[in-house]
Amino acid sequence: MGSLIMRRIVAIANQKGGVGKTTTSINLAAALAHIRQRVLLLDCDPQANASSGLGVRPPASAPSMYQVLLNGAEAPPIVQPFPQLPLHLLPANSQLAAAEWELPGRGNPEGLLAARLAALAAAYDYLIIDCPPSLGLLTVNALVAATEVVIPIQCEYFAMEGLSLLLETVRRIKLRWNPNLQIGGILLTMFDRRNNLAHQVANDIRRHFPGQVFHTLIPRNVRLGESPSHGLPIHLYDPGCPGAEAYLALAGEFHHREDSDG
Ligand SMILES: Nc1ncnc2c1ncn2[C@@H]1O[C@H](COP(=O)(O)OP(=O)(O)O)[C@@H](O)[C@H]1O
Ligand SMILES: [Mg+2]
Repeated sequence: MGSLIMRRIVAIANQKGGVGKTTTSINLAAALAHIRQRVLLLDCDPQANASSGLGVRPPASAPSMYQVLLNGAEAPPIVQPFPQLPLHLLPANSQLAAAEWELPGRGNPEGLLAARLAALAAAYDYLIIDCPPSLGLLTVNALVAATEVVIPIQCEYFAMEGLSLLLETVRRIKLRWNPNLQIGGILLTMFDRRNNLAHQVANDIRRHFPGQVFHTLIPRNVRLGESPSHGLPIHLYDPGCPGAEAYLALAGEFHHREDSDG
């Protein structure tokens, strides 16, 4: 082979809220760092759950994703929440909400994040972008900057609703701005194996998208719901729990998937 392995910039996106985007962003990023990958997690959601879930809460006036995106802050306010993990975070706060209406007044409103990342990416193996629950300009910026998109889907009725619009958006962004953008995979989340419907939905999705769904299923696990309130990724909060094992398995599968869908 001998070819350069491309740095992977991963947008975790789905315009539906509550499907596990932030939980996946935090715990996939932390699990990749756990296997000694250098990871930068970028919080692109004004709700800033990826930041607070790692115990980082920049005050409204403090530099954050907003300044980096809109003003290209010279020293991006990147933090390393846990000294033992090569996981860095570019946090957000509610100021980022203003970006949705300020971006359209800028030149290249879809490509600003991609331009900012050019200077930041060199120090990392993975950049993971937590997207807001919409297909607005923040998500579009993430998809224009990304090399791949991971789509978390909750295993419940209506799971696939909205998926075709998301895939259409990805297709348009690929055509117009980012020919390198790939579907990194669909991730089934909050899977409850005692629930027949969950099995049915998981099977339906696998049938619809052969080869595009991660083997790793993320189970519904209360520990995953608790860990953000302690400011910890799951494998630091409760290393033995099913959620921690699932996200570690996902990181392994994800890390070895590079080059697979050329
Ligand atoms: N696998 C899971 N098991 C149990 N709770 C989960 C799981 N994944 C996410 N949650 C909880 O569900 C809610 C929505 O998840 P979140 O990751 O914030 O979704 P999104 O970012 O897509 O809105 C959060 O309260 C989160 O803690
Ligand atoms: Mg979220």
